[in-house]
Amino acid sequence: MANIHETSSYSIRDISLAETGRKNIAFSITELPVLTIIKRRFEQEKPLKGIRVGMALHITTETAYLVDTLVAGGASVAICSCNPLSTQDDSSAYLAKEGVQVFGYKGENKEDYYRFIEKVIAFKPQVTVDDGCDLVKTLHEKHPELLKGMIGGSEETTTGVRRLQAMAKAGQLKYPMIAVNDNFTKHLFDNYYGTGQSAIDGVIRASNILFAGRIVVVVGYGDCGKGVATRAKGLGAQVIVTEVDEKRGLQAVMDGFRVMPMLEAAKLGEVFITVTGNKNVVSMDAIRLMKNSVILANAGHFDNEIDVHGLEKNASEIEEMRPLFKRFRIGTKDVYLCGEGRLVNLACAEGHPSSVLDMSFAGQALAVEYLVKNKGKLAPGVVHLPEEIDNNIARLKLESMGVKIDHLSPEQNAYLNEWQEGT
Ligand code: ADE
Repeated sequence: MANIHETSSYSIRDISLAETGRKNIAFSITELPVLTIIKRRFEQEKPLKGIRVGMALHITTETAYLVDTLVAGGASVAICSCNPLSTQDDSSAYLAKEGVQVFGYKGENKEDYYRFIEKVIAFKPQVTVDDGCDLVKTLHEKHPELLKGMIGGSEETTTGVRRLQAMAKAGQLKYPMIAVNDNFTKHLFDNYYGTGQSAIDGVIRASNILFAGRIVVVVGYGDCGKGVATRAKGLGAQVIVTEVDEKRGLQAVMDGFRVMPMLEAAKLGEVFITVTGNKNVVSMDAIRLMKNSVILANAGHFDNEIDVHGLEKNASEIEEMRPLFKRFRIGTKDVYLCGEGRLVNLACAEGHPSSVLDMSFAGQALAVEYLVKNKGKLAPGVVHLPEEIDNNIARLKLESMGVKIDHLSPEQNAYLNEWQEGT
């Protein structure tokens, strides 16, 4: 058993970190204006009164404020982590002190990871807020008796939405699930700017390398990959992109990046950052072709993008050089791995900056409210938040930044809804 603080309502690293957590959250609120507006409205209207919300999210400063927002709306919350290395121990201590049921500590083992999911399930949630789909998967597989009472759920990330879609396709998804990731104000900002900045922050904090002049291979050119490639280029790196999707590969070429298969990029790269949501995209075959002293990092949801087991099995030496930065001796070369191959931005840094999570978590809070308002009306399956809600998040964010935009005149509006007027 790890050295942690456990009671019947929390399992965390150290309750004495609560005050540090409070201060971090207090500062981040200045960066979370949209969520703050929602929290104030929730305090007045109590739209979640009496609702039990079970959450599996990265337990961070911003997540703690999302929990505060749901509690302000009248919900009671139990939360566990959605990744063994992403918990910020001061945030979980803050939540525990606030009386929220919270289960997670940085560095938790797989046994505790699933034990904590079971604790959230034991809370008998009526709404789930998940990031990666492990909570929803466990509920469906191990507790089918609870599915009937479920109002709905929301999912934060691309990987989780993909898994939900696979469940729905197989006829296995038993309650309505809002794909918050698909909000315009989520994936075009959180995935692009959030992952773009924080993944690089993670590699830098783990290794302290200079990006300028470095050959960086970005594996995957979805919203996250685009963000990482653009930010690496902005720091002066020479960026190579690898892809399996024709359209994305083409986009990367036209965005000015070199595009090539992984087994060619392997020979050239100095830093490899995976952002695909797929498994084994940096295989041992690729690793064997790499130069000496390459750095590997993953920014996708799960730790299966880089063949970490292959590294462990084939290494003649393994040494922790810096916290969460390991050297593997493979043949005559050294390969460095950040954050055990887990999400580098959260394992080695602090995840996305608050300002971008402001919109993602506004989407989460409004998704929970929408589910409760529409209790019994939504069919099981993957559903989307109405566009007006998404637009409203963007409007509030612009207002908070003091930015004004134009509005359609009645004439322009009518023009957009007719087809007769041409040249
Ligand atoms: N995902 C990425 N960064 C995060 C953060 N800081 N908090 C919660 N979820 C995240």
